[in-house]
Amino acid sequence: MAIYAFTSAAGSPGVTTTVLGLALQWPGEVLLVDADPVGGSAILAGFFAGRVGHPGTLIELWTAYRQGDLTTALREKPLRLSETASFIPGPAGAAQAGGLTDLWSALAAELRGLSTLGVDVLIDLGRLGHLHHATPLAMGADEVVVVMRSDLVSVAAATAAHVPAESPVKVLLVGPGRPYSARSVGQVVKRPVAVTLPWAPDEAAVLSHGRPEPRRASALRRGLRQAAETLRAGVESRVEVLIDE
Ligand SMILES: Nc1ncnc2c1ncn2[C@@H]1O[C@H](COP(=O)(O)OP(=O)(O)OP(=O)(O)O)[C@@H](O)[C@H]1O
Ligand SMILES: [Mg+2]
Repeated sequence: MAIYAFTSAAGSPGVTTTVLGLALQWPGEVLLVDADPVGGSAILAGFFAGRVGHPGTLIELWTAYRQGDLTTALREKPLRLSETASFIPGPAGAAQAGGLTDLWSALAAELRGLSTLGVDVLIDLGRLGHLHHATPLAMGADEVVVVMRSDLVSVAAATAAHVPAESPVKVLLVGPGRPYSARSVGQVVKRPVAVTLPWAPDEAAVLSHGRPEPRRASALRRGLRQAAETLRAGVESRVEVLIDE
């Protein structure tokens, strides 16, 4: 199993919506970690529409880490999203994120342990370049995925972005053809567009703002399922190449 870290260069292209959607469509056990330093626990306010209180999970993990018990806390503290997906809500804001800096390296090691036990891990890193960006989680990931849209603002920002990563960096394009194609975007940003997701604002709003499910809309759900398969296959084929070498 593997660790996938998602980030963006600018704007709000849909990182949080995408990782949450992927977790809900993931074919197997998955843990979603919200590590966006300024995201303000967007999933609790958005998808859960404030109905789930903030359990301060990252603070609890930090406390457990200081007490030498991070392994147990990581198994007990996450919230349930579905039968197969669980979730660690993000920092309440930048001030809280600043206090968590020494947690990230320890958490990266624990997530690696979890991935060897058959759990895939999806991480929302938020935007690149923030002072409290969880860089150790990016460095510890098997795949770093830059989420972007296909307009010039997104393309310009992604072209200039520095992505801290030891593993290959891929692009996930939300809304190809609005206006540029996946192929053109990949050529300009010089990274492969590994995955595309359809432009589906009503479906996306279910995930990002807790809106009611629109009738007969399933394009995004299908796209997310396909994206999950593609991401998994990408890491598996790399592992096979490494084993052959
Ligand atoms: N596939 C999609 N089609 C249409 N709209 C989308 C799609 N994915 C996300 N959105 C919309 O884009 C907006 C921003 O989404 P989201 O909050 O996930 O972005 P983000 O990259 O996490 O932003 P931030 O960097 O501020 O955390 C939301 O209104 C969401 O509904
Ligand atoms: Mg976000």
